[in-house]
Amino acid sequence: MAKTSVSSGRRGLLRAALAACVFPATAKQAFGTAAPSAGPITKAIPSTGERLPVIGLGTDAFYRSEQPAIEAEIGRMVQLGGTVIDTASDYGDSESLIGDALATLGLRRQIFLATKLTAGGGVFGIGSDLGGEGSFQRSLRRLRTERIDLLQVHNLDGVDRLMPLMQRWKQAGQIRYIGVTVSVQWQHDQLVQAMRRYPLDFIQVDYSISNRDAEKVIFPTALERKLAVLVDLPLGRASLIREAQGHPLPPWAADIGISSWSQLFLKYVISHPAVTCAIPGSTKLAHLEDNQAAARGVLPDSGARERMQRYWRDVVG
Ligand SMILES: NC(=O)c1ccc[n+]([C@@H]2O[C@H](COP(=O)([O-])OP(=O)(O)OC[C@H]3O[C@@H](n4cnc5c(N)ncnc54)[C@H](OP(=O)(O)O)[C@@H]3O)[C@@H](O)[C@H]2O)c1
Repeated sequence: MAKTSVSSGRRGLLRAALAACVFPATAKQAFGTAAPSAGPITKAIPSTGERLPVIGLGTDAFYRSEQPAIEAEIGRMVQLGGTVIDTASDYGDSESLIGDALATLGLRRQIFLATKLTAGGGVFGIGSDLGGEGSFQRSLRRLRTERIDLLQVHNLDGVDRLMPLMQRWKQAGQIRYIGVTVSVQWQHDQLVQAMRRYPLDFIQVDYSISNRDAEKVIFPTALERKLAVLVDLPLGRASLIREAQGHPLPPWAADIGISSWSQLFLKYVISHPAVTCAIPGSTKLAHLEDNQAAARGVLPDSGARERMQRYWRDVVG
């Protein structure tokens, strides 16, 4: 969805009028915390200061794509300044498809490559019988690389057993950063415990304009512990896009360079001070281009974030 939704009929016009009342002409001055720049906005990984572009690429549906389409997406993302790719040993062929694409395109060194592993046999029923060591070796082979930038424990599955191994691989230079992931609210308490207990560089958590639980404890803990945050499900697995269908964008959207609903959802996510990078999944090139555009221009400030929430709740929700 690369284009702005057009108001549908009278209800849309009424809602647009309401939005104009709620957000008066001063909105333009109220937005923006960063100067517009040519490249994507970047944020620092707290443990090292290394900077990452704020929009990456999630790949859990890559198994549905053909190799040429994946090469086109990755090549285009790099052209647009994006570098972060998130995959997992449990995403079907995703790791192999990415590894082959990076080798063909000669882009491995430009990419910040994140993958995941489990100890196997956990509550989600994912993970192979390879165990942590076998799974990691297979990821290196499939991704055709000698070093993973970020290795994450998938859904915290086997985190106790995997953490000593991961620290060893980090010391040996086979991985650069250690992380853990969740994508469901009932794991948020466990995530906070892990954030306090293990020597992490990153966490990955579900967060969106309509799924804000992470704001309560997880984000403050990430700021306190100086952890980078990747956000999964920033579009609610496309449910937000479907809900927004037929509703006009807020009249002030263009003031912060937003020209699609996806960009609004992503700008909301990446403008939280704790968030380092969002990883929307896309198998379509047009979606990738749309999403990468959210990394440009300005980030909404706290007042703008408030207006985005109100608009979503009152006009769309
Ligand atoms: N536990 C975990 O660790 C965990 C769990 C879930 C996800 N993740 C990671 O997080 C990533 C993101 O999650 P997700 O992919 O499930 O959900 P998502 O990013 O919230 O949504 C992806 C969906 O939105 C659609 N989409 C993307 N950009 C769009 C645009 N500009 N306009 C319209 N539709 C658009 C995609 O369609 P197309 O495919 O047709 O482009 C896809 O159906 C995953 O790919 C994965 O890397 C991690």
